Amino acid sequence: MLFLVYLALQSFIPLGLSAIIQSLSIGTQLAWYFPDNSTITFYYLLPTEYVGTSNWEWIGIGFLPSSSSYAMTGADIITIETSSGQTDDRFASDNGYPSLDTSNGGKNSLQETQQLIMDTYTVYSWTRQLNTEDNDDLSLQINGQYLTISAKGNIAGGDIAQHSSSGTSSDSIVLAYDASPLTQATVSQNTNGESQSTNTNNDTTTENSSSSIYISVAFSLGFIF
Ligand SMILES: *[C@@H]1O[C@H](CO)[C@@H](O)[C@H](O)[C@H]1NC(C)=O
Ligand SMILES: *[C@@H]1O[C@H](CO)[C@@H](O)[C@H](O)[C@H]1NC(C)=O
Ligand SMILES: *[C@@H]1O[C@H](CO)[C@@H](O)[C@H](O)[C@H]1NC(C)=O
Repeated sequence: MLFLVYLALQSFIPLGLSAIIQSLSIGTQLAWYFPDNSTITFYYLLPTEYVGTSNWEWIGIGFLPSSSSYAMTGADIITIETSSGQTDDRFASDNGYPSLDTSNGGKNSLQETQQLIMDTYTVYSWTRQLNTEDNDDLSLQINGQYLTISAKGNIAGGDIAQHSSSGTSSDSIVLAYDASPLTQATVSQNTNGESQSTNTNNDTTTENSSSSIYISVAFSLGFIF
């Protein structure tokens, strides 16, 4: 366990300013890096004040080819239950409930899922192969351009419940090459001062997080301590 904690801390100790952070118009941020040229680690940054609150009980991000139109159909989706950190690999065959890859004949391609609670941000991370060889996953490329779709909602009966159409948005992203993990310094720099983003729900999210970020509490690799 100590070794795992060490690994978790090491990846957040400031080693330099690295890992690209992109704002998502739903009011969150996505960061990533490439541990090697066939693997990508994503970080989803959610303001900690939203964790477990109404309409933020789960968050989801889907990846589509950049030429796609804005819809769920065909999207390679990751959902995160914000309180527990449960992170699932899903696929949307239409504009409806995205089922687990494991119930579509596919596999769970998400490795090393983690939840790190900091003072202003809770960071959920997962690692996957760029090409998972699973039909339910989009094959990703270094410097590739994608359409991402974002949603959020509540949990009902232990599962993600349908989101309202107002709690959704989309963004175009380029998975620009970066070989260094996200660090505390990067998070601080990118969230320093006032930043604003507006989601389609017409909420305005304002965050001031000039205080330095510290690693405070839980980190789940299947256990809490
Ligand atoms: C990994 O990909 C990047 C971006 O294309 C490239 O600059 C780098 O040389 C590659 N590294 C290896 C070891 O192939
Ligand atoms: C954020 O910081 C700016 C500049 O320091 C300040 O003007 C603003 O009132 C702050 N906003 C909040 C919500 O604290
Ligand atoms: C969002 O809020 C702005 C400013 O209050 C308003 O002008 C705009 O019409 C609103 N948009 C929607 C879709 O409600």
